[in-house]
Amino acid sequence: MNGKTRLALTKGRLEKDTVNLLEKAGLNISMIKNPERKLILDIPGYPLEIILLKGSDVATYVEHGVADLGVVGKDVLLEKPKPVYEVADLGFGACRMAVAGPPSAVEDGKKLLRVASKYPRIAREHFEEKGQSVEIIEQQGSVELAPLMGLSDVIVDIVETGNTLKANGLIILEEIVKISARLIVNKVSYKTRRVEMNALIDMLEKQAAQGGKG
Ligand code: PRP
Repeated sequence: MNGKTRLALTKGRLEKDTVNLLEKAGLNISMIKNPERKLILDIPGYPLEIILLKGSDVATYVEHGVADLGVVGKDVLLEKPKPVYEVADLGFGACRMAVAGPPSAVEDGKKLLRVASKYPRIAREHFEEKGQSVEIIEQQGSVELAPLMGLSDVIVDIVETGNTLKANGLIILEEIVKISARLIVNKVSYKTRRVEMNALIDMLEKQAAQGGKG
């Protein structure tokens, strides 16, 4: 890894807040702001290389030690647990994992509930704990459509502003867990590159504690 520490960032929603955090920490992030579709970005003046990935791939890269650290949503870690250290809650990307549906939706322990979700594991575990039998219908996106079209009774999904639910006449029926961006670390890197790891972790944690949003 050419002596540099490699940090994997989640593209999309978490990207801006993570980049703000790095900027506030004093890093030159001009390369990230204008990536020109590059996926490997050098940080000038700091022994750090950034790679941009989808959330579930961030955790995979960190698990295999191809990246030393990663920034990923707690939803991803809960849905696809990986043997990595979760070292900090960075606070941003705050939202909720919730059961939602039309106001008329009722849970009846005895009746099979049809649940559409991009998060089949989280959904299954949640209802298992409650003793509610479910049929999980896995979706890749636009999950809110499922109860509107009669594909499911309810959904389990991320709610951030609540605008998507509202616009589609759905409500939160139950909150499952609070979600935010987490800093994860490869287990071997944490031992063999402890000094570099701790310097970066401290820097990111400090900025996050000060409210890294820009
Ligand atoms: C996510 C999530 C909800 C929406 C919630 O979807 O699955 O649909 O955002 O955000 P809100 O509470 O602020 O409205 P995303 O935008 O990632 O797209 P997708 O439906 O294609 O998965």
